[in-house]
Amino acid sequence: MDLIRLALFVCGVLFLISWISYILHYLFHAWVTPTPRDLKKLYNAEWALVTGGSSGIGLALCDILCSQGINVFIVAKDDPLIGQSTKELKKKYPDRDIRALGVDLGDRNGGYLSKIEKQTRNLRINLIFNNAGYIRVGLFPDDPLDAALHNMGVNVTSSLRITHLFANRLLDRGEKGAICFTSSSSCFIPSPMTAMYGATKAFLTHFATSLAAEVRPSGIQVLVIHPS
Ligand SMILES: NC(=O)c1ccc[n+]([C@@H]2O[C@H](COP(=O)([O-])OP(=O)(O)OC[C@H]3O[C@@H](n4cnc5c(N)ncnc54)[C@H](OP(=O)(O)O)[C@@H]3O)[C@@H](O)[C@H]2O)c1
Repeated sequence: MDLIRLALFVCGVLFLISWISYILHYLFHAWVTPTPRDLKKLYNAEWALVTGGSSGIGLALCDILCSQGINVFIVAKDDPLIGQSTKELKKKYPDRDIRALGVDLGDRNGGYLSKIEKQTRNLRINLIFNNAGYIRVGLFPDDPLDAALHNMGVNVTSSLRITHLFANRLLDRGEKGAICFTSSSSCFIPSPMTAMYGATKAFLTHFATSLAAEVRPSGIQVLVIHPS
C-alpha cells in the first residue's frame, strides 16, 4: 500500500515538474521572442517571395510581411484572385511594393521558373515562403496519373526549383535569409484517400529538415510549418 502511495506521489511530482517547466519555457519565449517576429530586422529583409500568396495562409503571410515593412512578390495561379488580392494588399499598404506573377506551378517542364528568375533578378529577396499547395481526394488508382503528377508539381517540385534558385542567390550574396515550407500535419500519418497529399507533405518536411542543417552555417534558416 505504501509503495502504491509512493508511486502516486512520485508521478504527481513528475507531472507537476513537467507542467511548471512547460509554462516557464512558454513564458520565457513569449517574453524573449515575442511573435510575430520582426522579419525585416531579423533578416535585414527588403523583399519576400510567397507562393500561393493569393489566398488563405499565403495571403495572411503577405499581410503580415507588408505590415512589417517588407515588399512582397506573389506567385500564384493565373486567375482573377491573384489580381484581386494584390489590389487589396496595395490598397491596405500603399507604401509597399507588391508584385504578382500568375503561373501554373504544376507545369511539368517548370516553365514558371524562368519567369520568376527574370522578374526577381533585380530584387533582393531574403525570405522565401514555399506555400502553394492543394489536396486531391479519392483513391490514387482512380485518379488520372497526370492529375497526380500535377499535384506533385505544385506541392513539391515547384518548391524545389524555387528554393534552389533563391538559396543559391542568398549564398552568392553571402546574406542571411529564411526559407519556409508549408507542410501539413497529415504528413505524419498514413493518408488513405489523400495519398498524394500526405506523401508530398512528408517530402517537404523531410527535405526541409535536411536542408536546414546544410545551410544554417551560412546564415540561412529553414522552417517547416504543419498547419493541422
Ligand atoms: N488550410 C489548412 O487547413 C491547411 C492545413 C495543412 C496544410 N495546408 C497547406 O497550406 C498551404 C496553403 O493552403 P490554404 O489553406 O491557404 O489554401 P488556399 O487558400 O487554397 O491557397 C493555396 C494557394 O496555392 C495556389 N495554387 C494552387 N494551385 C496552384 C498552381 N497550380 N499554380 C500556382 N499556384 C497555385 C492558390 O492559387 P489560387 O487561389 O489562385 O487557386 C492559392 O494561392 C497549402 O500548401 C496547403 O496544403 C493548409
